[in-house]
Amino acid sequence: EKGGYDHFMLKEIFEQPQTIFDCLRGRLDAEQGHVVLSGIQKYATQISEAHRIIIIACGTSWHAGLLAEYIIEELCRIPVEVEYASEFRYRNPIVHKGDVIMAISQSGETADTLVAIEKAKEQGAIILGIVNVVGSSIARLSHTGVYTHAGPEIGVASTKAFTAQLAVIMMIALVIGKEKGTLSHDKYLQLIRELAEVPEKVKLILQQNDSIKALAEKYKDATDALYLGRGYNFPIALEGALKLKEISYIHAEGYPAAEMKHGPIALVTETLPVVFVATKDSYHEKVISNMQEIKARKGKIIAIITEGDLVSPTLADDVVILPPADEIIAPLLSTIPMQLLAYHIGVAKGYDVDKPRNLAKSVTVE
Ligand code: F6R
Repeated sequence: EKGGYDHFMLKEIFEQPQTIFDCLRGRLDAEQGHVVLSGIQKYATQISEAHRIIIIACGTSWHAGLLAEYIIEELCRIPVEVEYASEFRYRNPIVHKGDVIMAISQSGETADTLVAIEKAKEQGAIILGIVNVVGSSIARLSHTGVYTHAGPEIGVASTKAFTAQLAVIMMIALVIGKEKGTLSHDKYLQLIRELAEVPEKVKLILQQNDSIKALAEKYKDATDALYLGRGYNFPIALEGALKLKEISYIHAEGYPAAEMKHGPIALVTETLPVVFVATKDSYHEKVISNMQEIKARKGKIIAIITEGDLVSPTLADDVVILPPADEIIAPLLSTIPMQLLAYHIGVAKGYDVDKPRNLAKSVTVE
């Protein structure tokens, strides 16, 4: 049942070329150059005319939501707010008729997310579900939605469901951006082509499994870790830190790389590993200067970088090199080494990575 892998988590990490492909299949057509999402197209006018989109989720799904904010605001020019479901439901939030609420959930059963959208629905919002489990409560409560089609996720830590959520979000942004006219036709076609290339690129990254395992051996005894990224890679830094915490029980924090100067930099010593999500994008030079700041304080730098980057390796102690991709697509790639690193550190420490202590696969109580 684990398909020859030691754990479900590893199996699910390795399934991602296929699950991302399955998620795109029948929706994204790179040859014809279009994306079809019937659940979005039905509501295309309402969504593209919405004054704002509110995204509601928990945990890893919330990280997907945070990335959605960056992508939708860029490509669709609709203001987006991202809320923790547990906060949203209890704070008398302002919801207007016609607001679009996007609920993101792997299980479709997370209690806080479910109740939050129930309330928003009563207030006249349009509920759009991005859900993995077909027919789940959140899927049923939503007016419309897009399934992530990642297949059953058994490992408690979300991996393949997260990348499928990202793929869905990117497709939604393409459909709405096109509908609204905020996305040029050239950019639309380019992003479609690049999304279609993701499964093959993920395969290439997975080939680096052994070298990431060696990194895990090197850093497994750290007591803390910092994950830094900017822009589209900031939510990925948060997700990387969450994966490490849940699987290896190492205290980890994700931060926007520039925010570290406002506090966390006090933690940097020669024993602190700092993971930089530093793929080539419009923030890259800024990220490089953040790396220099860590190096000056003797932190140990692990940098996730793009092929051809000659500067980062001069600053980092270790690098993982990814194939090039547009900055909007890159998070689908940069998240893979984070998953493998957390997995191998957890295994090296002898923990049950499929069932981390105190965690349940779906949190159906608040
Ligand atoms: C982390 C993880 C959790 C879930 C969260 C939301 O690896 O799995 O943080 O992401 O409990 O669950 P869903 O997406 O099922 O609503």
